[in-house]
Amino acid sequence: MSATTWHRLGTMDELLARVPFAIKIERHRIAVFFHDGRFTAISDICNHKGGPLSEGRVRGEFVMCPWHGWEYSVLTGKGPAGYDEEQVPVFALEERADGVYVQLPPVMPRKLVKHKPSHLLDEHAKPAGAPPRVLLLSTTAMDEGNPRFSTSDALLEHALARAKELKVDTQLIKLRQLNFKHCEGNYSKASHACTWPCAITERDPEDELTPVYEGLVHWADVVLISTPIRWGNASSLYYKMVERLNCVQNQVTIHNKVLIMNKVAAFIITGGQDNIQAVAGGMFTFWSELGFVFPPFPFIAHSRGWDAEDMQNNVRQVKASDALREASRELVERAVDFWKILDRDKAMMGMMEKPMERAGRKANPLVMPEEVEV
Ligand code: FES
Repeated sequence: MSATTWHRLGTMDELLARVPFAIKIERHRIAVFFHDGRFTAISDICNHKGGPLSEGRVRGEFVMCPWHGWEYSVLTGKGPAGYDEEQVPVFALEERADGVYVQLPPVMPRKLVKHKPSHLLDEHAKPAGAPPRVLLLSTTAMDEGNPRFSTSDALLEHALARAKELKVDTQLIKLRQLNFKHCEGNYSKASHACTWPCAITERDPEDELTPVYEGLVHWADVVLISTPIRWGNASSLYYKMVERLNCVQNQVTIHNKVLIMNKVAAFIITGGQDNIQAVAGGMFTFWSELGFVFPPFPFIAHSRGWDAEDMQNNVRQVKASDALREASRELVERAVDFWKILDRDKAMMGMMEKPMERAGRKANPLVMPEEVEV
């Protein structure tokens, strides 16, 4: 047991002018609050992912972590009723004639509860010799009760039919059938506030993006993503998903942990008018930053050009087009063939893991915040 020491924080007036605030003494980061007429001190480091509690919102006795909303009593360091097995360290304070003093080490230690909610991601390990796995992701939006013909979905269906003929395992996910939340932008609070699994997935068993995370990270070898063009961009559902995938890319940023490796992505892009190159370019940038690689000629696309407003003809054209049907089938073949090359040479790819780790991303190393002390 280490000897206790007392450290002066300042006069009462000085502290009153600053609370809540954080101070680092030796290896302890301490959050100081003023509650019910007296100063209190708990660890500044949240049990969840290390968020700064001194920057949280205080309601009554509890402070809410600014990163993902976990709460702690500023008196006892414990969570609210039902979560009170969690506890951050509590420090003793003394108000003396010459100021307020804090005692080290804490009088109550940190208590971390291991959380493993059942809805978190499954690994989907692949048995040796199992066939390639192809995930097809449809991102077009429509009313399922009143469906319309979708050109991007139609080409994806052609690819799916060909994938089945190739005797690969397939999974088709239509984003419009999943009830999932928008990204809450934790990354813009702090790089480490965007976590894997996503904080929404961790917190909310009702959020339905889990199959997409599992599919991309744990299940698929090949991913085909289809999108319509809406006003020159990919679909709004596509971007809703992409924002939630920041947590996959962010693992490279904050932990040098590459979740996507030796996986192939390819795209189907259709629009009544144009901007195909720009949409494809944006998609390549994002999926390459996740860690995906691309086969030769990694996308197929269709549009009728800027002055084609007769969309009924566009639908007819796509329905009748043998060329687009063939192109969709060839796209999935190319993607699977390319993955087979990667898989065959994965020992060599393994040797390349190190140079791939920081990817095309920002070469500057991040200063790591302090870890949660246990
Ligand atoms: S709630 Fe504090 S770091 Fe997540």
